[in-house]
Amino acid sequence: MDELTARLHLETSKLMGVDFLPTSDVEAEQPLPVSVLPSVDISATSLEDIQQLHATTCPHCTTVTSHTQIVFGIGNPNASLMFIGDAPGPEEDAEGIPFVGAAGQKLDQIISAMGFSRDDVYITNVVKSHLEDTRTPLPTEVKKCGEFLELQIQAIQPDVIVALGSPATKYLLQTTIGITKLRGVWGEHCSIPVMPTYHPAYLLRNYTKQTREEIWSDMQNVLAKLSTK
Ligand code: URA
Repeated sequence: MDELTARLHLETSKLMGVDFLPTSDVEAEQPLPVSVLPSVDISATSLEDIQQLHATTCPHCTTVTSHTQIVFGIGNPNASLMFIGDAPGPEEDAEGIPFVGAAGQKLDQIISAMGFSRDDVYITNVVKSHLEDTRTPLPTEVKKCGEFLELQIQAIQPDVIVALGSPATKYLLQTTIGITKLRGVWGEHCSIPVMPTYHPAYLLRNYTKQTREEIWSDMQNVLAKLSTK
């Protein structure tokens, strides 16, 4: 989608009552400052095979007891755009689908304002089991479950990844720098451009003009990058 189409879509969304995103100028594209991971040396198979492999062998998800089911991921297996969050919350744990709670509804608005639907993109998390008290996953947990995220990424081969919040950003960019510093700055994961942005739950907790403008600026950069692919 070109920039004009994206803007027209945004205006339409606003007319339809989507108040989420203010218009703002596209920020100049930023350099690629962050480390690039080498490709993981495992042959990608189908998402169904990976899901089965994960369910039976993930050293994190097969040992934790805080979840009722694994939330693997949802969407288009050939998506050019992939969104990656941290871990399923209680609603996702109940439904087995990522981002179906309040944060998920905000993510749906973002996806829709970009001119896409859930069926166009792929949505998953770095950790695929709900954690007690909906806590943030530990780096050790992210590392264990992350092996399977690598396989998902290899199977889907998206053109762009949006990292939602700190755990996804830190894992994908192999950095300890926080999201507030990295947000809006392109990174790479296995040669795939990664746009770190705020987690929708953070946006809900900090629903200001500034956070809305920042996240929309990030999504406009994502649309611009997709239009070059
Ligand atoms: N937060 C996440 O990071 N992932 C979900 O699936 C839901 C909430």
